Amino acid sequence: MLDGKKVLFSGMQSTGNLTLGNYLGALKNWVKLADEYECFYCVVDEHSITVRQDPATLRKRARALLILYIAAGIDPEKSCLYYQSHVSAHAELAWILNCFTYMGEMNRMTQFKDKSAKHADNINVGLFAYPVLMAADILLYQSDIVPVGSDQLQHLEITRDIAQRFNNIYGDVFTIPEPYVGKVGARIMSLQEPSKKMSKSDENPNASIYLMDDRDTIIRKFKRAVTDSEAMIAYREEQPGIRNLIDIYCACTNKTSGEAVKEFEGRGYGDLKMAVGETVADVLLPLQSRVAELSADKAYIDSVIKNNAEKAAYYANKTLRKVQHKIGFPDRVRG
Ligand code: TYM
Repeated sequence: MLDGKKVLFSGMQSTGNLTLGNYLGALKNWVKLADEYECFYCVVDEHSITVRQDPATLRKRARALLILYIAAGIDPEKSCLYYQSHVSAHAELAWILNCFTYMGEMNRMTQFKDKSAKHADNINVGLFAYPVLMAADILLYQSDIVPVGSDQLQHLEITRDIAQRFNNIYGDVFTIPEPYVGKVGARIMSLQEPSKKMSKSDENPNASIYLMDDRDTIIRKFKRAVTDSEAMIAYREEQPGIRNLIDIYCACTNKTSGEAVKEFEGRGYGDLKMAVGETVADVLLPLQSRVAELSADKAYIDSVIKNNAEKAAYYANKTLRKVQHKIGFPDRVRG
């Protein structure tokens, strides 16, 4: 609890171009939940360097991501939007939690297995310990709820395990967080291989809708989306391509899959693809215009960065000091 409200924490990596999956699976829910909770929305740039990054591009993307949070509708006066690397408590708590996490647990993380297969030439310790840094992010703010897409659920599980383990030894130090996964849009799939999730690191640009794609590009990508030869619009597992298009449509329109199937009854795949493409383009257009406006206001964005980092550090350090004391580090001398 913070000022009588429950606490929400979430973050996104500032790597690659954000996709429609990031928006529908996470960012849209962040906006929806922002008034109900005391929110911390982090640009997790420290997570990004588990894969080699070009420094200038990383810096640019981190700022673009922070701007996107605001453009999506998060008010930086009410919610705390900041860079992970500006609050050193994240790395400090992560080190401590590393000492309460077992190699065997980390070995089971599917994202580590996937990423180490993809970056076989750079399987670094940071990539392995990534979920511990994520646990530190969440636990530092005594978070009650963490809105994520379903691919992050395993990391939430380990966060809860680490917190419980720590609390069992030292008493009630950490709040045990609950994941929040939206009913629709929790797993948006690739437009080219609908058995795989849509990912910003996909090498095929036609597989993903990027949030900054223009209208023509969006419609063209949907027209090319891989479907099947059933020639029937139904919402079922055997038709993952069509199911994904319906999921996207529903997440954008707040319709149910039943309503969507009814709407397209007896119509062809071409109609469905066109309708989804236009709907997505309509949703993204205001977001894109707002990004352009905010990007031009350097002084405003700089003030958000400065003020919010101070606010985040204040709350994060409170938890860090408590943890440091509990484990026996010498207290700071005041005055
Ligand atoms: P990241 O940056 O890969 O993704 C950010 C958010 O977008 C969601 N997401 C999706 N949702 C639905 N369909 C998809 N295809 C899709 N792709 C991505 C993710 O589930 C996520 O919610 N480890 C995290 C970042 C992180 C974090 C945290 C999140 C670091 N610390 C603490 C929450 C709390 C990550 O790499 O997300």
